[in-house]
Amino acid sequence: MSLDFKNEMNEKVNDLLSKMTLEEKVGQLVQYAGFGELTGPNANAEDNAKKIDNIKKGLVGSMLNVMTAKQTREYQEFAVNNSRLGIPMIFAYDVIHGFKTMFPITLGETASWDLEVMEAGARVAAIESAAYGLHWTFAPMMDLSRDARWGRVMEGAGEDPYLTSLASVARIKGFQGEDLADERTIAACAKHFAAYGLAEGGRDYNTVDASEHTLRNFILPPFKAAAEAGVATFMNAFNEIGGVPATASVHLQRNILKGEWNYEGFVVSDWGSILELINHRIAKDKTDAARLAIIAGSDMDMEGFCYETGLVDLVNDGIVKEELVDDAVSRILKIKYALGLFDDPFKYCNEDREKNEVYTPEHLAIARDAARKSIVLLKNETNLLPLSKDISSIAVIGPFAADKDVPIGSWRAQAETNSAVSLLEGIQHAVGNNTTILHAKGVQVAKGRRSFVHELEINHDDTSPLPDAVAVAKEAEVVILAIGEDCFQSGEGRSQVNISLSKPQQALLEAVYAVNKNIIVTLMNGRPLEINWMSENVPTILETWHLGSESGNAIADVIFGDYNPSGKLPMSFPRHVGQCPIYYNHKSTGRPDAIEVVFWSHYIDEKNTPLYPFGFGLSYTTFEYRHFKLDKTTMAAGEKIIASVEVANTGTRDGEEVIQLYIQDVVASVTRPVKELKGFEKVMIKAGEVKTITFEINEETLSFYRFDMTYGTEPGEFKVMVGGNSVDLLEASFTLL
Ligand code: NOJ
Repeated sequence: MSLDFKNEMNEKVNDLLSKMTLEEKVGQLVQYAGFGELTGPNANAEDNAKKIDNIKKGLVGSMLNVMTAKQTREYQEFAVNNSRLGIPMIFAYDVIHGFKTMFPITLGETASWDLEVMEAGARVAAIESAAYGLHWTFAPMMDLSRDARWGRVMEGAGEDPYLTSLASVARIKGFQGEDLADERTIAACAKHFAAYGLAEGGRDYNTVDASEHTLRNFILPPFKAAAEAGVATFMNAFNEIGGVPATASVHLQRNILKGEWNYEGFVVSDWGSILELINHRIAKDKTDAARLAIIAGSDMDMEGFCYETGLVDLVNDGIVKEELVDDAVSRILKIKYALGLFDDPFKYCNEDREKNEVYTPEHLAIARDAARKSIVLLKNETNLLPLSKDISSIAVIGPFAADKDVPIGSWRAQAETNSAVSLLEGIQHAVGNNTTILHAKGVQVAKGRRSFVHELEINHDDTSPLPDAVAVAKEAEVVILAIGEDCFQSGEGRSQVNISLSKPQQALLEAVYAVNKNIIVTLMNGRPLEINWMSENVPTILETWHLGSESGNAIADVIFGDYNPSGKLPMSFPRHVGQCPIYYNHKSTGRPDAIEVVFWSHYIDEKNTPLYPFGFGLSYTTFEYRHFKLDKTTMAAGEKIIASVEVANTGTRDGEEVIQLYIQDVVASVTRPVKELKGFEKVMIKAGEVKTITFEINEETLSFYRFDMTYGTEPGEFKVMVGGNSVDLLEASFTLL
């Protein structure tokens, strides 16, 4: 879909605009948080009555964190029935990986490399959110995530711009559908514009310094793809880039987004990010902050209270042109029209739908499918997996083994606490009466105020595992050990310097391993973890992220072979946190190759390579790549090359494989990555079957931004690589004439 605003809509908007006072126009640019859930610092706590008063005066265009059919109706009535022009508000919420039916965290779901799964998940989230009166989600997040210390990697699609682009567009389609006016679709939001994921040291909200080269070639492509796919809104970012906070960046918002890309939707600030221009020390007060932000092209002020304070005076004093305000207002009104809110401001406030269309068995089935497809088999050295359902005994151990809340993950919207199927329950559902299931927590976990990591007992220093864990581990044929991270160790504001297992969990792992080597670790986590000891010693590791409502059932599907795992990592797993940021599509440097003397680009105490690379994931079957070839060895401008490869399922089970195509531009006028993902296909291949997969390579595949920021190809040699992960690849090459 595209944001194709029809003439008729432009006329309506212009007509309305002509009737609005300056105060009413500025009001459309104001977004208030509701009075319940807080998703940012509460700067204006005691002014709730004033907020309602302003809504009634038509001085508020939008609210976030207000929901349910009843409550959105109540607030919409304040706006529509009391204000002079009766302009409806637009209600927004962070619907990141599900609303009540929870899907895997975004990073995990991206490990499915299945665009239909991602679209379906967003569609379910849209249906449920819309049934609760919401019009707009602040998703998808498409910040490039190269640093596992950054807690928000769980919200994004990982380290690759190409995969992130496709995944984000799939999610936008899922949220927005074909028609925003459909009452089961909601507006999406491409965030955070831009470069928020490159925060120094992986510390949330920290400074970013990204060159134009990095912006254009790596950070912006997913955003451009989102704009082209018709995403209704953008959100700017908290961080500065090269001395200019993104919220005040004319370059990003006016020049690139609304200029070069001709984007017609609107930009919402991040929570208080206009106000934070004062903390960045580029604005001296709220009015000054409003001036910078409106000039830069931030259309809506989320909970920053700067536009409402300063913008009217700025226009009246001739400092800000009224056309800038008009432009912002008309962008917002167009989205409201597109959502059908001018036809019926209450069309999303439907209590029947709220009762009947949320957390349904159909939605849970879609979530289970997404969850099992998101699991990545990292290791299966002894072919312990899949387990037979006739197994005599299983010990399900670990702090997350029986946990019904952690799998819901961070950014959980309206999920009920403790509503996920636990791993223990999943295993119990799967096996018959002949299997004895033993359970022990192994590590004491108490859930306090979950926003504060230091209050989570999985991180305390007591390293002696509870004795029952070792006893049941000894007794059972196989141990399934659920360890990793609490769900609130990742997400906004949850950066960590340490990404290894907590000491008690590591101690538990070693104690269990000492008595039973048949261990399957099911890692539950929101970021890549440092798991060297586990990787060296434990024979079987499943990356199960925070998988959402159906977590336990989905893991059991994989453990017992009802589903053959097909996930692939969307982010590299480092050997050591000191390698972060680590990503497969890095540059060569001037000293890439190992030499005997010390003077090459490396660490003297650790390898350069990740423990598990981008794109990696095993299956219960094996795939062999053969006969990789290109149909030509030269390509002229405007032509294309077809790369083909045979992929054989050489094992005894049917399975899906994600076949990945990478390209290296061997010599170019600017440095280019050692390889870049340029295509992938997820294909079911039956046991013994061979499939031929083809990829088209065209000029777009080979284009990049040069030093002068022109975009295009350069003649010369290109390497083309294909395989099942970013490291084990077959190679061919051709010359672009
Ligand atoms: C701040 C976060 O950065 C953003 O992603 C989110 O949408 C807003 N808060 C609203 O909750």
